[in-house]
Amino acid sequence: MLLTTDRLRLRPLEASDAPALHRALGDPVAMAAYEHGFSLEETHDWIARQQQRYLDDGFGLWAMVHADTGELIGDAGITTQPVGDETVIEVGYHLARAWWGQGYATEAARACTSWAFATQDTDLVYARIRDTNIASMNVAIRLGMTVRQRFMVHYRGIDMPHLAFAIGRDRWDTQDVRR
Ligand SMILES: CC(C)(COP(=O)(O)OP(=O)(O)OC[C@H]1O[C@@H](n2cnc3c(N)ncnc32)[C@H](O)[C@@H]1OP(=O)(O)O)[C@@H](O)C(=O)NCCC(=O)NCCS
Repeated sequence: MLLTTDRLRLRPLEASDAPALHRALGDPVAMAAYEHGFSLEETHDWIARQQQRYLDDGFGLWAMVHADTGELIGDAGITTQPVGDETVIEVGYHLARAWWGQGYATEAARACTSWAFATQDTDLVYARIRDTNIASMNVAIRLGMTVRQRFMVHYRGIDMPHLAFAIGRDRWDTQDVRR
């Protein structure tokens, strides 16, 4: 097991997680910020991409598993991502709709952000968020992040304005957002 919180366990994704993860990534309502729900093949590719990240970087998006039931309810983790000309450390999270509104994404993102500051030589942890994705912004805000810049992502032929939220190591260490 990689990380544990009060209610969650985060562990590496496996190919056999695809059907469960697809409840989040395959849902066009949940994935509105991406403009489409993934096909099952795209969810398989997503998992394979995370597994390559584990090998290349030592981290990636991990399976978010409910500690009581063992059910996979989404993913959360750390990736490297472009923001403008920079490559930054980002916390990411995707939750199946049935599990929204109960604090699980924030709980997972907190653990991932602590993990990033503890293991990576970085002064900032980011969350790149499309300007329409208010629920995700609220997760970033609950982590104590603030907006650092606006940038454009080109995805599926669409220009998508994004906000780069981030929190600095000093603030993370002195705030009770770490919990
Ligand atoms: C982004 C996403 C994970 C946010 O999900 P969420 O359920 O709003 O976030 P959390 O799991 O942290 O839950 C927070 C909510 O639970 C509430 N809550 C209920 N019980 C709680 C508890 N025990 N502890 C903490 N919060 C609790 C909070 O008050 C908050 O509600 P509010 O936003 O109405 O104030 C979700 O919308 C999603 O999966 N979207 C699709 C994927 C995506 O866009 N990912 C981000 C890409 S940048």
